[in-house]
Amino acid sequence: MCTPKIKMASNEFQPLLGMSDITAPEIYLWRMIESRARTLFLAYGYEELRTPSLEKLKVFTRSIGDTTDVVQKEMYAFKDRGNREIALRPEGTAGAIRHLAGRGEEGRNARVFYMAPMFRCERPQAGRKRQFHQVGIEATGEPNPLADAECIALQQQLLETWGLKGSKIKINTRGTKEDQKAVFENIHRLLNDHRADLCEDCQRRMDENVLRVIDCKNEACQRIVATLPEMKSFMSVESQTYLDTVIETLNQMGIEVEYDPSLVRGLDYYLHTVWEITHDALGAQNSIAGGGRYEITLGKKALPGVGFAMGIERVVTSLNACGITAEQFAPSGGIWLVSLGAEALKENMKLARTLRGMGVRCGMELSEKSMKAQMRKANKMEAEKVIIRGEEELKNKTLLVKNFADGTQQELKIEELNTIL
Ligand code: HAM
Repeated sequence: MCTPKIKMASNEFQPLLGMSDITAPEIYLWRMIESRARTLFLAYGYEELRTPSLEKLKVFTRSIGDTTDVVQKEMYAFKDRGNREIALRPEGTAGAIRHLAGRGEEGRNARVFYMAPMFRCERPQAGRKRQFHQVGIEATGEPNPLADAECIALQQQLLETWGLKGSKIKINTRGTKEDQKAVFENIHRLLNDHRADLCEDCQRRMDENVLRVIDCKNEACQRIVATLPEMKSFMSVESQTYLDTVIETLNQMGIEVEYDPSLVRGLDYYLHTVWEITHDALGAQNSIAGGGRYEITLGKKALPGVGFAMGIERVVTSLNACGITAEQFAPSGGIWLVSLGAEALKENMKLARTLRGMGVRCGMELSEKSMKAQMRKANKMEAEKVIIRGEEELKNKTLLVKNFADGTQQELKIEELNTIL
C-alpha cells in the first residue's frame, strides 16, 4: 500500500487524468505521422489553419448541437474572469468553420488542414483521452458527391502513406435537412412502441434527437434499433443517389467502402455522407477517424463543407499493432565530434555550430572525456561518422574522419569537410 507521502510525490509529476506527456521515443512516430500528413495535405491543395484552443461556447453549441454527448457531457465549458462563456475545443471543425465564415466569399470555397489537441471530459479508458490530438481537413463548398469521395480518398491515401493496414471504411448518409425531418418522424413513431424498453438516456433522447438512440451503445437499445428500417428508406431518391455516387466514385478509384445503415455519427452538423474508419487493433474505441459532409451556421449564412478528423493516439496504437514502431523513426546518422584536449573542445564547438547550421545532425561532449567514452557515445547516438581532433589535427588544420558503417578512416583538410557531408 502507498503511504500518502509517496502518493503525493508520484502524483506531483503526473499530468491530469486522461492527459499524457508525449515524449521520445513515441514522439518519433508522431513526427512521421504529422510530417507525412502535412506533405499529402499540401499535395491536395490544403493550407494549414491554426485556430485557438479556446472559443466562445456558442461556436460549439451551435455547430455540434445542444443534444449531442459532446456538448451535453464532455465539453470543458466554463466562464472566464470576465464572465464570458467559453470552452476548450472538443473538435476542430467548428473553429475552422468559424474562421472560414469570417472570410466571406473566399471562405466558402477553401481547403484547410489542422493538427491540434482537442479536449473532451470523458471517462478515460484505453483509446479514450481527455486531451487527444486530431489531424483533420475541412473543404468548404456546395454539396458534391465527388468532393466527398475525394475527401475519403485522401484519407485512405493518408493511411497508406503511414503504412497502416487492416482498416475499414464504413459509410452512410444523413440525407438533406428535409430527409432528416422524415427520418426523425418515422424513427420516432416506430421507437415510440418500445419507449419503455429503452434505457433512461434514450427515453429522454427520443424527444430531443432520435438519432442519438440509434447511436446508443446499450444492448437493449441496440436490439430495438436493429428492428428499424434503414434510415435511407425514409429519404428522397436524390439523397440515395448522392450516396451511391460517392460509393461508385470511390470504387472506381479502387477504394473499398462498406455501407453501414446504422452509422449516424455523434455530431449534429452532418448532412448527406458520413463515414468512419475503424481498426480491429483498437478494441471498444475502434474508430480511428470520423468524417462527413455538413452545414454549419455561425454567422448569417450557412456554410457547407466536408471533412474528416483522425485521432493521432489511435493511429499510433493501430500502427504499433501493424508492427510499425517509433524506434524505426528514431533520429540517427550525422556526425559526432570527438575532442582530445581543451583546445580541440573549443574548436569543435565552432565546427559543431557550422555543421548544425548546415542542417547536419551533430553532437559532442561539452567536457573533456576519454576517447573511449566519446566513441561509445557516438555509437549510442547512432552517428554515421566521427570527426576526431586533437593537438596534431589542430596544428595541421586537418580532421580525422572515421566511418562507422565500413570502419574506414581518412584524414581530410578542413576545407575538404564538404566531401563527407
Ligand atoms: P469525431 O468522430 O468526434 O469527429 O472524432 C474524430 C476522431 O478523433 C475519432 O475517430 C477518434 O480517433 C478521435 N477521438 C475522438 N474522441 C477521442 C478521445 N476522447 N480520445 C482519443 N481520441 C478521440 C470529429 O471530431 C469531427 N470534427 C470530424 C469531422 C471533421 N467531420 C467533418 N469534419
